[in-house]
Amino acid sequence: VWTRLTARYWRGPPPELLAYGDPGGYLPLRESIASYLTTARGVRCEAEQVIIAAGAQQGLDLAARLLLDPGDVAWIEDPMHPGVLGALTGAGATVTPVPVDEEGIDIRVGMRNAPRARLAYVTPSHQYPLGVTMSLSRRLELLQWARDAQAWIVEDDYDSEYRYSSRPLASLQGLDAHGRVIYVGTFAKVLFPSIRLGYLVVPPDLVDAFATGNSLIIGHAPSIEQAVVADFIAEGHFARHLRRTRALYSTRRQVLLEAIQERLADRLNVQPSEAGMHLVGWLPPGVDDRLVSQQAAERGVVARALSLHYGEAPPRGGLVLGYAAFGPAEIRGAMARLASAVEASM
Ligand SMILES: Cc1ncc(COP(=O)(O)O)c(C=O)c1O
Repeated sequence: VWTRLTARYWRGPPPELLAYGDPGGYLPLRESIASYLTTARGVRCEAEQVIIAAGAQQGLDLAARLLLDPGDVAWIEDPMHPGVLGALTGAGATVTPVPVDEEGIDIRVGMRNAPRARLAYVTPSHQYPLGVTMSLSRRLELLQWARDAQAWIVEDDYDSEYRYSSRPLASLQGLDAHGRVIYVGTFAKVLFPSIRLGYLVVPPDLVDAFATGNSLIIGHAPSIEQAVVADFIAEGHFARHLRRTRALYSTRRQVLLEAIQERLADRLNVQPSEAGMHLVGWLPPGVDDRLVSQQAAERGVVARALSLHYGEAPPRGGLVLGYAAFGPAEIRGAMARLASAVEASM
């Protein structure tokens, strides 16, 4: 399907797709995303509010540069997505890691440690990397804080498409009546990472600033790729792809859980999570996750050390295990090798 959609454009490329385009993005794609987010994520937006970025990372960079002045304080969830730390520090922000508990980011700790923050970065649907879903009361508390402090919330909804046992909570953006939330999404997870297409949904009064900012940094995201994704969504392939991959990843997740149970039951304590494309497992106290990660790499298994995601000291070591890209036999084989890596590290 992808080949066919791409070939359609390259056989006779419309001249406007070869010229400079709208810095905010290709309008049919922005329309498709706005309508998808409205129905699937409860986002409240018009197509014009959707700004297409070269991946979520570039969108985060753009938001950090436009919303913060050097020296401004930003909250970031701890543990965190390292890419956002880079975007915020790159914009000159002073970053305060704020711990995550079973309800999400601990706003009271943030208010105590960095009361003058101008921005909070959060992953409410599926905290990256722990997988916690932010509770409704925490969401309302965070929105109230942003309103009182006149601060921004950056909501990164990077893998909300994948939820296996229940319907996802609607986006934080959909609860925001005061235009404080910048919503971020990506096609990296749901399609493939090298496509480098993501998007922001910004409040109406920030649309021009974000489009102009984009024009000064990347010009705009590549037009033909945007047009192909727009068709992929409009012709129903995206919805089918989502249904198919949701079922596939759900099975793979189950295989991973069973393989951990079989090979690593007393060595890896899986953090409960019903969503996404990875799981986090906690190692026994005192076991160095970087050493386990290195031992795993030597056995051909990528198991990222959880401690690399922490700004403050982690409670204990753990591993981030991605399962979406691997079939059952690969997952089982990898867990056998991971068990040997853990053994060798103890
Ligand atoms: C939480 C989170 N946000 C954003 C991204 C980046 O997405 P993109 O590849 O679109 O830049 C990732 C990628 O791993 C991620 O884990």
